[in-house]
Amino acid sequence: MAVAFHIAQFLEDHFQKVASSLEGFGDGFTADVRPTEPRFGVFQANGVLPYAKKTKQNPRALAQTLLDALQLPTDHFTAEIAGPGFININLTPAFYADWLKTFKDEAALQQGASHIDEGLNVVVDYSSPNTAKQMHVGHLRSMVIGEAIQRLLRFCGANVTRDNHIGDWGTQFGILIMAIKDAGYNLDEEHPNLLEELEALYKAGTQKTKDDPAALEQARNELVKLQQGDAENMQLWEKINSLSYEAFESIYKLFNVAFDCVLGESFYRDKVDRIYKELEETKLSEESQGALVVFHPEHPRFAKQPFIIRKSDGATNYATTDLATALHRLEAFEANEMINVTDGRQQDHFEQLRLTVEKWFAAKGYKPCKLRHVWFGTILGEDGKAIKTRSGEPIKLKELVSEAVERAYKVVAEKSPELTEDEKREIAEKVGIGAVRYADLSQNRTSDYTFSWEKMLSFDGNTAPYLLYATARLHAIFRKAGLKPGEGEDAATSFETETELALARKLVLFPSVLELTLEDLRPHFLCTYLFELSGIFSSFYNADKVVTEDPGTQARRLMLCARTLNTLETGLKLLGIETLERM
Ligand code: ARG
Repeated sequence: MAVAFHIAQFLEDHFQKVASSLEGFGDGFTADVRPTEPRFGVFQANGVLPYAKKTKQNPRALAQTLLDALQLPTDHFTAEIAGPGFININLTPAFYADWLKTFKDEAALQQGASHIDEGLNVVVDYSSPNTAKQMHVGHLRSMVIGEAIQRLLRFCGANVTRDNHIGDWGTQFGILIMAIKDAGYNLDEEHPNLLEELEALYKAGTQKTKDDPAALEQARNELVKLQQGDAENMQLWEKINSLSYEAFESIYKLFNVAFDCVLGESFYRDKVDRIYKELEETKLSEESQGALVVFHPEHPRFAKQPFIIRKSDGATNYATTDLATALHRLEAFEANEMINVTDGRQQDHFEQLRLTVEKWFAAKGYKPCKLRHVWFGTILGEDGKAIKTRSGEPIKLKELVSEAVERAYKVVAEKSPELTEDEKREIAEKVGIGAVRYADLSQNRTSDYTFSWEKMLSFDGNTAPYLLYATARLHAIFRKAGLKPGEGEDAATSFETETELALARKLVLFPSVLELTLEDLRPHFLCTYLFELSGIFSSFYNADKVVTEDPGTQARRLMLCARTLNTLETGLKLLGIETLERM
């Protein structure tokens, strides 16, 4: 019999199907099969107990009826009733061997995973910084969480469009253009520190508009001219955006991030009239104190707190742009789902957006589209406040990366002095960037976390260096044996030792972790799994000799090593982390 990739899902479907034709089971029954603690087995069906209670039946007897009817192939599964009416399911050594032979490399894992979201069109909107400013530490999370999520969705079969919704349009350009003109700043010249200088100009300009009403008037004028398409201002604006984006791209390159499209706020400026028209025509919007707003009467807060889509001075805003963005994604990408990755302070905005889009699309008879706001907490400094430089500025991502690589270099040079200089540099770059990235992803995204160089660069604990070291060590095992991962497995005999079985058990749970991670788009679940897998591998490796006299034993242990390596490398790749063959 072919083995199922997602075993919990397979069991769940099987239990469900069998129950549907059994006496005592009816519509409200869900088998609820999920991974359980090792002492109970691999999976547990939890659904019988609550169903028996609800239908006033004896839970153990009902569980027994189901168990008797299951007829699970005994060469692969053993099952028994536990406690008041749970069904515990264990996997046989033969099952582990079959599963591990079937899902032997990344392509096979991906093929297995591909059924989760087949054919779903998903637009992932992430990174999305504002132009004319440098990317700072506050931009890290959207970039790395968004990238991990889009990789996971793609791996599991979704058609993903990666959209960088940059903030390239807005009132800041009035001030900036004024300041550029006043300073005689020439954007056509080489500026190695362009964004720093634009930031300084913007700051000075802002101050000036506060001190001097004439400057405020001048800035307003420049903005109006830009909005009306004045050639000189348009040219300045375009230049600022393209140069800003070049700077963003150098960061994206370091983090291995790329986009399918960069449709910033400016792209939507001629698309807002239709939004007003449709929201008015569907009676979703109303006038309130001169502004155009949407209320959601059914909502405890948004019944009173308006979603402002046109300000009283007639200006469009962030909300209008995002409504136009939703429509464009529906029409241009046939999106079934849109995901926005931003910090938690935008929760109200995206909740109001979601409610508005749902009603508007339904009223117009458009295809429904699921909006999901994937939000995250703040990165804190040691003082428990949002992380800043000593002088109180946000830390630039560029500088953060240099420091990470520099610190990683010291760690690597100390740990492996025998490596060549080039090797040390290459490893330091991957370890440094991987460490920053993993430190972020391994935290539940909705929590704040404290940034700590010592912690993220440590070789102990749930860190990138620990996991990268584990993959390098696995490569070393194969190098020493003169084999490639996947070779030397043919003579494998049945898994036997407790540590072999524990490792095999963890490996076949990978699909359940993918599911859990995707459910609420929380990459830390995958991190925790990879960390635990490495730990279980270490116990196996300490207890069971891999290269050994008995060919059957060696072959099956090599298989476990190769699958552990493949799972770690696939998992890290999904997180956006580049792995190493030696370190
Ligand atoms: N530019 C915004 C910011 O820096 C994030 C944009 C997120 N995407 C969106 N469609 N609103 O906060």
